[in-house]
Amino acid sequence: MSTPGQVVLLIGSPRGGRSTSAQLGDVLVAGLKKHGWTATTHIARTAIANPPAWSELERATAAADLVIVATPLYVDSLPAPLIETFERLHALRHTAAPPKAQRLIAVVNSGFPEAHQNDTALAICRCFAHRAGFRWDGGLALGMGGALSGQAITERGRTHTVAVTLHRAADELAADGPLSAATIQALARPMMPVWLYRLIAEVSFRITAWRHGARHLGAQPYAREDD
Ligand SMILES: Cc1cc2nc3c(=O)[nH]c(=O)nc-3n(C[C@H](O)[C@H](O)[C@H](O)COP(=O)(O)O)c2cc1C
Repeated sequence: MSTPGQVVLLIGSPRGGRSTSAQLGDVLVAGLKKHGWTATTHIARTAIANPPAWSELERATAAADLVIVATPLYVDSLPAPLIETFERLHALRHTAAPPKAQRLIAVVNSGFPEAHQNDTALAICRCFAHRAGFRWDGGLALGMGGALSGQAITERGRTHTVAVTLHRAADELAADGPLSAATIQALARPMMPVWLYRLIAEVSFRITAWRHGARHLGAQPYAREDD
């Protein structure tokens, strides 16, 4: 059993504490705290816009044993504030090297049902880890993020597998290991049949459109008559 360390949870979602990313990261952090770890949470968007918050993130990252990046997929990439955070930290760590060995993992969730949609974003995180001097301990990908939105991740019901898998991930990280292939595969498994997720997404999209007064979703006002 390795010594408990300090973890930094870096939330990439501009939705901050209300995001699915925050929920996923919180479960990982809660798992590490059970092993005696201490944690601080930072939101990339807040840190970028607010110099005191940036200083805190900078200090916490320099002291961390492990950084967990929890972020949504945005246009097959990462949200802009997280990219800027990576760029700033990268520049900083090239002027002042960190005083100890540090590790980094990422958990990326997306709206599309397939977890592999997150591969490119995870590769960007892995690249950042290598170039900024962190040991890359693996990336977790989760599809169907919309199914978790606003819902607590517990060991009951639909979120059971996600919760159990994140606890296992925390155990692996607390034992100083990288994330195992079994854990990565377990989180990537769909939470429900893809057809059901698509159906729920379609219905909620239509309800949202209706609430906003959009009545003609199939309208093509500029289509030519001979099209
Ligand atoms: C600007 C924007 C771009 C997005 N791009 C993608 C995408 O390329 N692929 C995808 O599967 N989901 C995409 N999504 C959906 C989010 O990844 C998804 O809703 C996610 O669950 C949000 O997580 P969060 O609550 O942590 O922000 C996008 C959402 C937004 C707002």
